[in-house]
Amino acid sequence: MTSKELRKKFIEFFEGNGHKKIESASLLPTDQSVLFTTAGMQPLVPYLLGEKHPAGDKLVNIQRCIRTNDIDEVGDDSHGTFFEMLGYWSLGAYWKKEAIKYTFEFFTQELNVAIENIAVTCFEGDETNSIAKDTESAEIWESLGIPKNRIAFLGYDDNYWGPTGIEGPCGPDTEIFVWTGDGEAPFDFDPNNKDWVEIGNDVFMQYNKTLTEKSWENACKDVNPFGQEDFKFESLNQKNVDFGTGFERALMVLNNYRNIYETDLYESLILKIEDLSLKRYMEFPVEMRIIADHIKASVFALNDGILPSNKDQGYVIRRLIRRAIVKAYQLGLKENFLIELSKVVYPIYDGVYEFDKAKIEVELEKEEVKFRATLSSGMNKIQDAESLSGKMLFDLHQSFGLPLEIAQETARFYGVEIVNGAVEEYKEMVKKHQELSRTASVGMFKGGLASGGEMETKYHTATHLLLAALRKTLGNDVNQKGANITAERIRFDFNYPDKLTPEQIKQVEDEVNKNIVADLPVDLEEMLYEDAKKCGATGNFENKYGTTVKVYTIAEISKEICGGPHVAHTGELGHFKISKEESSSSGIRRIKAILE
Ligand code: ALA
Repeated sequence: MTSKELRKKFIEFFEGNGHKKIESASLLPTDQSVLFTTAGMQPLVPYLLGEKHPAGDKLVNIQRCIRTNDIDEVGDDSHGTFFEMLGYWSLGAYWKKEAIKYTFEFFTQELNVAIENIAVTCFEGDETNSIAKDTESAEIWESLGIPKNRIAFLGYDDNYWGPTGIEGPCGPDTEIFVWTGDGEAPFDFDPNNKDWVEIGNDVFMQYNKTLTEKSWENACKDVNPFGQEDFKFESLNQKNVDFGTGFERALMVLNNYRNIYETDLYESLILKIEDLSLKRYMEFPVEMRIIADHIKASVFALNDGILPSNKDQGYVIRRLIRRAIVKAYQLGLKENFLIELSKVVYPIYDGVYEFDKAKIEVELEKEEVKFRATLSSGMNKIQDAESLSGKMLFDLHQSFGLPLEIAQETARFYGVEIVNGAVEEYKEMVKKHQELSRTASVGMFKGGLASGGEMETKYHTATHLLLAALRKTLGNDVNQKGANITAERIRFDFNYPDKLTPEQIKQVEDEVNKNIVADLPVDLEEMLYEDAKKCGATGNFENKYGTTVKVYTIAEISKEICGGPHVAHTGELGHFKISKEESSSSGIRRIKAILE
């Protein structure tokens, strides 16, 4: 089966069953707490929480995704940073019986998977949170012909899905597995047997998971703050089904291939890499798979306007591009090749996605030229070394553009030892370096851009209360898109599609003033950027992993990464008033506000 056939069958089956096709959203998510779109449900969160979707309550799509949490596994048989997800949803329209039947019929009737080769898992339940064992799903599977010995019950790690951030919609799921081993499938189902490959799951999104007040308080005191006991599960009024299957993996299984790289989604890329490097895939499968995956992820990210940079998504893409170049270098490919390889990506998705090829090529060229200026010296340094110290790892990063994990991997490839404690020494040096550059930038801030006067300080704090009030009034999709503070006023930009009504403006003002009157404490904590993100702090995320950031918490109202300065108690602010609300640009509103 080709990828085009599978796309068509999936969409047509669900359209035929009353689902409306929606387009794939961008890889750049609207939700700022995650870097990329990682699942088909992510752009649908507001609708899973009850908002009406314009296309109706039964949806189907194929969503492009990037997940980097499995990056170390890229190169094995089934992981990629870039993948597509076949998804269908019921937004309160139907529940387990219909969903499991659709999934079953799609795989057995449309794709001809033999029922003897199917096994499933269901959620084992959680008494503490009063979530019942999902015997209901198991009985539905049984009624369709899946025998008891092919049904396993597992816990949170396997059969519970979501939320994508810290809080949000989630629920138990039921997963479908296909036997890919030689010969007949064993009588009993063992989910740990790697020849049973998971090819899809129906998540029954019936809960909204939120942190309990107690753990919100404690959230930032601990590096890895959350266990299941820190959350409460509230039942959603609208019970949703969220189905997803990894497109590449499904195509692999349906074709009886051993890995995703044999599918037509990768085959031409692997051939081109062989061609360019004059090496055989058989000898360097891992390197070639990584190059194929990373170029694809980069092409798609660039197409969605995510450009290489030193922060956030841009930094992830920069590392993917550099890693692809380093792997190619190891294969002996020392000339620029990214543009040529990118040209192989487009035909794979012919008729599926539009690519801005000119833009992609300009960016790939810029990145490759820049990195290659120092690459061979960096690689020679590694190859010539007997072992690598922390200082050398630091130099490789600072002067030769080789991030730590790429330098480590390269050292392993060339059999160069990394001395004990080198990584700690490297981290220490990074920290010192960052402290120095922070001091320099604070100096610049003070000198030129703003002053830290009394009124400015108050307006800084009022901005946090304003954002929290906007989110409370207009929904959690609202994020800060810009702010400018003088001693006279706040100018604050945020995403929202409509002009605010006088009632909404009043509601926002009242909410801010209520929190001023409550005289809430404003607490400051310094922590690593990654820990700040983990504990749910919002902010414009201009920071990098490994840097220390300031997190300002105003009781349970607001938690933001911010440079400050702020007042100690909200009661110092006076009376808050919105003086103007207007459009700033498409989809962005601007508020001007004063403290009286
Ligand atoms: N959201 C579910 C997943 O990503 C379907 O697996």
